[in-house]
Amino acid sequence: MGSLHAEWLPRDQALPWEEAWQAALYGPEGFFTAGAGPAAHFRTAVHAAPGPLATAVARLARREGCTAVLDIGAGRGELLVALTTCPEAAGLGLHGVDVIPRPPELPGAVGWSTCIEATPPAAFAGALVVAWELLDDVPCPVLERDDDGVWRRVLVHPVSGIEDLGDPADEADLDWCRRWWPTDAAEEGDRIEIGRPREDLWGGLVLRAAASRRSSGTTGSSVLLAVDYRHERSGRPPAGSLAGYRLGRLVPPVPDGTTNITAHVALDAVAEAGARAGATSTRLTDQRTALTELGLGSPGGMGSPGDEPPSGEPHEFGGEEALRRLAGRSAVAELLDPGSLGSFGWLLQRV
Ligand SMILES: C[S@@+](CC[C@H](N)C(=O)[O-])C[C@H]1O[C@@H](n2cnc3c(N)ncnc32)[C@H](O)[C@@H]1O
Repeated sequence: MGSLHAEWLPRDQALPWEEAWQAALYGPEGFFTAGAGPAAHFRTAVHAAPGPLATAVARLARREGCTAVLDIGAGRGELLVALTTCPEAAGLGLHGVDVIPRPPELPGAVGWSTCIEATPPAAFAGALVVAWELLDDVPCPVLERDDDGVWRRVLVHPVSGIEDLGDPADEADLDWCRRWWPTDAAEEGDRIEIGRPREDLWGGLVLRAAASRRSSGTTGSSVLLAVDYRHERSGRPPAGSLAGYRLGRLVPPVPDGTTNITAHVALDAVAEAGARAGATSTRLTDQRTALTELGLGSPGGMGSPGDEPPSGEPHEFGGEEALRRLAGRSAVAELLDPGSLGSFGWLLQRV
């Protein structure tokens, strides 16, 4: 990750949004590099239901013929820890990547790297590469339309969060908009988050997966999965989706190092970047559909109505066991909820 060492959070100067965002999250004292970790501030699917999610990921890895799971943007390694106790994940290699040193709670068998560039090629070989809520935290340029109809880069003062309009957008940004973010009906004050940095990161992962496959001569598959808040070309949000999260609350996106800054992902554009980098197949769907296919919430599956105390056996399934099952059902229901986590986008690409 880049960082603005001596200049971390300059207070007297407005920066382009992507620079302020990068410093606030990944600078030396940034939200992700030095903070208490994602789980202290917001709830992802792995915090909501680690066990069922680990089962689904293990099933996906098996279905795709993968021999390992590589979790990029692994937080404190919560998904990997859940995979170590998941019977269906037995025998899968496990490796995590995030911008912090190896979390102490990680079992010894799990590998760890502190950046993508330092991740050993072997960790990619035959792996299901998972990027769960990673891309929405990749900083990107923000544009706003001024009163003359010109798209300009938005600048922001770190710490105060006060914004100014900067230079007109460059050709590369405008090209991206022409392809991915229609502006015909745009009005003064409308905003765009330029997705190119997310696409570059994803394309780089596809290239790494393909290269490690070639060099290791592995017979296993390489598959990449991105799961995130998303929007598509036919329905981009006119005001953009830049937002802040702190201590479980939605707050103004102030790049002050205490707040997570996030923006939804143009997952269709990410998919095209993956294809350009060499992905040979693409599937874009929603989390509810994907997890249901993997047996969560389906009849007889985990968290399903059948996963209840059978009538006539009240003693065996009473007390703690009944409570455990109830908790499991509500956790799976949260993962599948179409009004929340269930609507997340799933992008699955094979290499
Ligand atoms: C929203 S959290 C998600 C954590 C976890 N995947 C989950 O679902 O609970 C995003 C994580 O991605 C990490 N991250 C962002 N950019 C990264 C990069 N280039 N390399 C490694 N980790 C990154 C952040 O540090 C953060 O821990």
